[in-house]
Amino acid sequence: MLTIQTPAKINPVLEVLGKRSDGYHELALVFQAIGLYDRLTFERKTNGVGLSVEGAVDLAADDSNLIVKAAKLFLREILKDSVGVQITLLKKIPLAAGLGGGSSDAAGTLRGLQWLFEVPVSEEKMHRMAAQLGSDVNFFLAGGTALGTGRGEIITPWQGSVPFWVILVKPPQGLSTPAVYQSGKALITSRDKVRGFQSVWEQGLPASIADHLFNGLEPAAFYLRPEVELIKKRFIMEGALGALLSGSGPTVFALAAHENEAQKIASKFENEGLEVVVTQTVSTGIEKL
Ligand code: C5P
Repeated sequence: MLTIQTPAKINPVLEVLGKRSDGYHELALVFQAIGLYDRLTFERKTNGVGLSVEGAVDLAADDSNLIVKAAKLFLREILKDSVGVQITLLKKIPLAAGLGGGSSDAAGTLRGLQWLFEVPVSEEKMHRMAAQLGSDVNFFLAGGTALGTGRGEIITPWQGSVPFWVILVKPPQGLSTPAVYQSGKALITSRDKVRGFQSVWEQGLPASIADHLFNGLEPAAFYLRPEVELIKKRFIMEGALGALLSGSGPTVFALAAHENEAQKIASKFENEGLEVVVTQTVSTGIEKL
């Protein structure tokens, strides 16, 4: 038996460079792992893939679940279906939130099975399987801070870390990633935001970093869900260093330098039916427990 934790992410920069002929969008984006985790437990069995889900009522445990897809892919490609696995998911990362929870679980499943069965699999092969499962899955094999290019699946880790407190506020209703991309409202830019962010990130000055947050999907998410823009404006009013839509939303994250500031900002959103989480950036990724 093996238990792992697998983190959520935010994107301090997400640039949409254009639409591709395969229907995806070409991106340049920065991924940052945060200390909010799903937990996965793996147990060998003779054949097939079983999944039970704890902590989230709304998540199907059938073949549509990315964990089941990841497990079936790994067992077929690496172990020729000679064994099976029973997986338990304890869901803590909000669903359809723009925090990468499903992708993180998929990456956690690939890594978990690699560790459980102690099979040698090259990182190149792990990344090929990850890319088959979704555009965000590759990042979670790396963790920490990383640049993503292509449709987001080509990962270049960034060394070092700039620690922040992170406040997440999510409206109750999720937002569909395809709906955001296909709204026609994304802002197209040309990598200058990522370049600008990278240079301030390397200098490590929190206030400059917070000034360089950018997400080209904001106009699309704000158009589909106007209340999301109001959350961002309130974060700024309440004194956050910076605030931004997370991925394709609808979660908005804000940055703070100290825990007491983060807790103070979070307290302003209490009792409004919003999901509020205070956490920190982390320089790690999937870990055994
Ligand atoms: O790759 P993933 O399955 O996570 O993508 C979900 C959907 O998000 C895609 O079907 C597509 O509509 C949109 N998407 C996109 N361009 C990307 C990533 C995702 O258009 N780079």
